[in-house]
Parts: sequence; structure tokens; C-alpha cells
Amino acid sequence: MSGPIKRMAHVGLQVPDLDASVAWATTVMGMREVERVDGVSYLTHKDCHHSLQYIEGPGSALDHIAMEAHDSEALARLTARLREESVEIVSERPEERGIAESLRFVGPDGHLFEVFTGMEDAGPIHTGSGVQPRKFGHPTLTAPEISVTQDFFRAVLEFRLSDEIGPGLLSFMRCNPDHHGLGLQKGEPGLNHYAWEVENVAVLTQLGETLAKNGSRFIWGPGRHGAGHNLFTYHYDPAGCIVEYYADLYQVWDEATYVPGRWAADDPDGQNLWGPGVPMEMIKAATPLAERAAVGS
Ligand SMILES: [Fe+2]
Repeated sequence: MSGPIKRMAHVGLQVPDLDASVAWATTVMGMREVERVDGVSYLTHKDCHHSLQYIEGPGSALDHIAMEAHDSEALARLTARLREESVEIVSERPEERGIAESLRFVGPDGHLFEVFTGMEDAGPIHTGSGVQPRKFGHPTLTAPEISVTQDFFRAVLEFRLSDEIGPGLLSFMRCNPDHHGLGLQKGEPGLNHYAWEVENVAVLTQLGETLAKNGSRFIWGPGRHGAGHNLFTYHYDPAGCIVEYYADLYQVWDEATYVPGRWAADDPDGQNLWGPGVPMEMIKAATPLAERAAVGS
């Protein structure tokens, strides 16, 4: 079973101080700045052209979420499917550097999504310092009724439900064996956090040391989620957006037999098997949608 999406690729975030955000990303988060053009910094954790975009703007906001399609044919099929569903297509050409083909559309809760193929290679040499992730993991998006975007991802993008906490509080969806490439959380439309995968728990401790040396600290974790069973930590970036680092995420290798887990909202095990549940500041925190990503703008 395989839908049009191969993997989650990056987030594009509007930041109020581009130099400060890039300095932090390349000092703490292990990123390398590949290029900076017209107020947009293209950052990579490894060898692809970018796995994070920082866009200079008036405040901290979510610009877009990007996914890679399997190939051109998958992208064309998705475009046709979006038209059938009368989804608002914003662009059918690359709106950023480093990608060959691209489609941008607006989801049912106002999030701007980008699906692309053909990302350029930026070379194997990593020159950033800090705690280098292994790959981009997922965004966790916020929406007033998470079932709306959840149904859209299931029906149109062919994601599968992996686990949920609630009902209606949190859900986790996948497009490949990773337990979740997309998280959904109840809240005003926006982004709760974005996540990077690292090799193991030792890298999470390295991140704690690096944050401390740079005047920051974890806001939750280290712990182990029940949903997804991954080890986790969370901290703020300089723009006030929450960043998760995780390791040991559950892999769904047998689609035929996997049954989604369900936890009640007041059952702490869904959130953290090791310690306290999610802190209130993280439940309330949301990076809002950028102005241009709003429906009808
Ligand atoms: Fe992008």
C-alpha cells in the first residue's frame, strides 16, 4: 500500500530575526546553510538541498509544510485528485530553490502544503556544528477539529492512522513505515512543533548539553511517548517555535496487521511512559499560520 507521498521533507518557517535563527540552527541544531536568497535561508541536516527553510518575516509563523512525492507521475496523480476534491491549488511550479517540480495547495484547516520531486543534492560534506539530526521527522499541526485534516490526509494523500489520544486531542499518521510523519493536535490552526530524528538516546543527552551551553534547556523530556513509542525531548528555538528531537520511533512493517493504539486524554501513558504528561505551556503553544497561508487570503 503506497500513496503519492514518499516522505516528509521540511517545514518553511517565517522568523523575525533571520540571522539569529540561522546562527542558532548552525550552532545548536547541526544544520548547514546551503544558500540564502531573497531573505530565505535554505538549511540542510545532511546532503539534500534543504530540510528546513527560514524565511525572514514580521513574526514567527508557519509558512508551509513540504512532502516529497514518489515521482513525477505520483505528483501528477495527486494534482488530479486535488482538482477532483476542489482543493485550492496555489501553485504548480517551484516556488523555492533546489526542487525540480512542485505543487502547493491549501489544506482544510488553512495549512499550506508543498509536494515536490527532484530535490538537488547539496553534497555530502557537513560543516555545521551542534547536534546533527539523521533526518527530518514530522510536523505536528494544530487545528480546532483534528478529524478534518486527518480525514483529508487519509482520503486524498493516502496516509494511515497510527495512534490517537483523545478522542480528538492528538492523532498520528504515516505515509511510510515511520509510525508518524504527521502529528495533529487540537488548537488554533498552526504548528505545535517540528521534529528531527537522531540515532539514539546518547544524541539526546548531547543535545541537552549543547542547549545548556547555549543558555537554553528542554521544556519536556527526555521521556518515551506511548504513542509512537519514541524517545523524545522538546525545546524552543529562538523564534519561539518548539523543536522535538526523537529516537527509536516505532516502525510499521506489516500494514495488514497493524492496529492503531488509542489512549484516553487523561491517561498519561499515551504521552509519556517515563514521567509527567505534556506541560500546559506546550499544549497552549502554537506557531500561527503565516498571513499568506490563510484560506482565502
Ligand atoms: Fe519548501
